[in-house]
Amino acid sequence: MLSTTGAPESEPLDVSGKAGPPVSIRGLLHAFGDLLALDGIDLEVPGAGVLGIVGPSGCGKSTLLEVASGLLEPSAGRVSVGEAADAPSRTPAGERLARCALMPQRDLLLPWLAAIDNAALGPSLAGASREAARERARADFNRLGLGGFELAKPQELSGGMRQRVAFLRTLISGKQVLLLDEPFASLDAITRAETQAWLAGVLAQDSHTVLLVTHDVEEALYLSDRVAVLTARPARVAATLDVPEPRSPDRAAAVTAADFVELRERALRLLAGGAR
Ligand SMILES: Nc1ncnc2c1ncn2[C@@H]1O[C@H](COP(=O)(O)OP(=O)(O)OP(=O)(O)O)[C@@H](O)[C@H]1O
Ligand SMILES: [Mg+2]
Repeated sequence: MLSTTGAPESEPLDVSGKAGPPVSIRGLLHAFGDLLALDGIDLEVPGAGVLGIVGPSGCGKSTLLEVASGLLEPSAGRVSVGEAADAPSRTPAGERLARCALMPQRDLLLPWLAAIDNAALGPSLAGASREAARERARADFNRLGLGGFELAKPQELSGGMRQRVAFLRTLISGKQVLLLDEPFASLDAITRAETQAWLAGVLAQDSHTVLLVTHDVEEALYLSDRVAVLTARPARVAATLDVPEPRSPDRAAAVTAADFVELRERALRLLAGGAR
C-alpha cells in the first residue's frame, strides 16, 4: 500500500464513532512563576471543527494545548470540552485528559515498545489484545509510509518516522478531541504535503474535534476551518481567520487559489505584527 515515494497514500482512514465535542476556552491565563505565557485567550471550536493555531516561537502555543488537554490547570479562566455550547462550564482536568488526545511537540514514544505497539497504545490500553491492537494500526501504518518498520524500536526510526508513529498513536487513541502540536514539523516538504493531503481526507470523513498548532501558516489554513493567530508572549488572540469554503480536494489547487493566497498573506502580516 506504499506510494512510490514511501509517503502516505490519500485513501482516507476509516474512523467511525461519536461526533467530536465542542471545545470552549474563555479568559485563559497561565503563568509559570513570574513568566506570563497566556494572557486571556478566548477560542471556540465547534464539535468536529478544526482550529489551526499559529504564533511566534515561544509565545505559548504548547502551553495552550497542555492546559486544554488537562496536563496543566490554568492560572485563571476555563476550558470546556463537550459541555453545552450555549452555556459551557469548566471541565475538570481529569475529564479533559479522558476526552483529549495530546500529541506533544516531542514525540515521547515508549523506547521499549516496537513502533507498531507504540502506535497501537490506545487500543491496547482500552483492552484490545496485542494482535487486535496491532491490526487496528496496521493499515494506517502502511498508508503513512511506515510499512516494514512495524517491529523497529523508536530509537531505530528517523525523526520524521517517529513523528508519524506518534501522530498515528494520537489519531487512533479512541479520544474524540485531538490536540496536535507541530505534528509534521520533522517531515520533508514532499512527505509533509502528502501527509497533509491525507489528513485533510481523514478529517473530512471523521468527526474529531481538532486543535492544530503549527508554524506553517499554509498548513494551518489548508487543514483548518478557522485559524487563530496569536501574538508574541504573552499569547493573546490577534485575530481569527475563517478559511474560505469549498476548498479543492487537490492540495496544490487549494493552496494556490487566489482567496487562499490572500488569506495566507494576511495571516503572515498578522504574525509579523503588521496590519490586518
Ligand atoms: N514548564 C515550564 N516552566 C517554566 N516555563 C515554561 C514551561 N513551559 C513553557 N515555559 C515558558 O513559557 C513560554 C511559552 O512556551 P511554549 O512552549 O508554550 O511556547 P510555544 O509557542 O509552544 O513555542 P514553540 O513555537 O517554540 O514551540 C516560554 O517562554 C517558555 O520558556
Ligand atoms: Mg511549542
